[in-house]
Amino acid sequence: MRILKNGLALAALLVSLQGSAQVPEDGLTSRELGIRLDVPSSQAELIARGEAVYQYWCNTCHGPEMLKPGTAALAIKYRGELPAALTERTDMVPEFVELMVREGISMMPFFRPTEVSDADLYALTAYLTSNSGD
Ligand code: HEC
Repeated sequence: MRILKNGLALAALLVSLQGSAQVPEDGLTSRELGIRLDVPSSQAELIARGEAVYQYWCNTCHGPEMLKPGTAALAIKYRGELPAALTERTDMVPEFVELMVREGISMMPFFRPTEVSDADLYALTAYLTSNSGD
């Protein structure tokens, strides 16, 4: 199911990339822009990169184990109404993830662009929103 969904997202992305390739904005196609921003060219690559960023920066606090401070805090916050592990959430939107990562909250530190680059954050939001309904 997930493979199918990623496949569909990839197909949609390829169609949109193809479309935009014919209408370059500001002299750059979105593919050229993606390369310039160091953004992977396919949705599957983007999500894989986001997962790697998550494992490196977030999993220590947000891994599925209840002993992890982020997971424990969210278990208390949502009392079972939403999953405590971020990777199991289906309600994530990019703006919320970006805000939390750049501003921090409570005992969660904020992350600077020198730690989590804008391109890494973009990949991270793709990963964390990949379960969200479209
Ligand atoms: C040092 C531990 C720690 C690290 C590292 C950490 N977080 Fe958190 N995070 C927390 C805690 C604790 C909370 C809950 C704060 C609260 O609301 O009390 C939280 C909350 C969040 C929330 C809000 C969820 C909600 O529904 O309220 C998001 C989104 C989030 N973190 C994403 C991330 C991402 C993405 C990373 C990696 C870049 C990350 N966090 C790294 C500890 C951490």
